[in-house]
Amino acid sequence: MASRKGKTLCISSAKGGVGKTITTLNLAGIYELISKKVLIVDLDLYGGGIATALNRPFEKSIYTMVDDINNNRYREFRDYVEQYDEYIDVLASPKDPRQANKIDAKYIDLILDRASNFYDVVLIDSNHILNEINVMMMDKVDEILFIVTNDPLDLKNLKSILSIFRDVNLKNYRVLLNDSRDPFKNYFTLYDIKNIIKTNVDYTLSKRMFIKDIDVYLMNGKIVTLDKHFAKVYTKDYSTLMTIAADALGDGGEENE
Ligand SMILES: Nc1ncnc2c1ncn2[C@@H]1O[C@H](COP(=O)(O)OP(=O)(O)OP(=O)(O)O)[C@@H](O)[C@H]1O
Ligand SMILES: [Mg+2]
Repeated sequence: MASRKGKTLCISSAKGGVGKTITTLNLAGIYELISKKVLIVDLDLYGGGIATALNRPFEKSIYTMVDDINNNRYREFRDYVEQYDEYIDVLASPKDPRQANKIDAKYIDLILDRASNFYDVVLIDSNHILNEINVMMMDKVDEILFIVTNDPLDLKNLKSILSIFRDVNLKNYRVLLNDSRDPFKNYFTLYDIKNIIKTNVDYTLSKRMFIKDIDVYLMNGKIVTLDKHFAKVYTKDYSTLMTIAADALGDGGEENE
């Protein structure tokens, strides 16, 4: 494999169930459409479902990688990843949640560093908990994409996280308002939302992108954005995802000031 030094982008949130995993998969599909090699790292260590969502039964995982590094058995990065298609690979979360406890945060830097040698983009799907592993990961990645919904608790929690980010002068994040997750929640206007989180909202996925049978895609191992109808039916959101993908590659857009 050639040396690439790809970009690392993590998909994060302040609350569970806001659409991180679906957005990670959709962005992977978008990168495939622009011919970029992508690795999805499933860092939702206790409940990750990327490999399952892509219908890829797997044996190797982030746990087997760490275990092999620990025991001097590690050989090549590609020995641990599962191929989805020509462009997308997956480094799965541990098969058994008990293995998750054995993954030390100190390996995160090493894994991301090695991964970025082989891919144009490394997408990290995580959970919303600010534990040692996630904090370490957020500190190492090139960019963090926070997904937020029109939900009071979600917005309140994101406000707290972003105020910590400001305190430590961390600016490498962008905010995506995901209206497609729950199109019936309309509590706040965009103006209100920006005021609550005291940060700009960089992107919005519209209510139109609510996909009633999204679980069918997942059960069939399909990525929504790779469906040839997606770009035509969801034109605006397709273009938003393209913009997010291009910004993360460093092709445009300013980071939060
Ligand atoms: N565009 C969409 N259309 C319809 N339903 C959606 C959409 N996006 C997300 N959902 C619904 O929201 C649920 C949660 O999405 P997802 O698993 O991506 O969130 P998450 O932030 O990764 O959750 P967790 O924090 O548990 O990992 C999905 O199972 C799906 O039912
Ligand atoms: Mg998830």
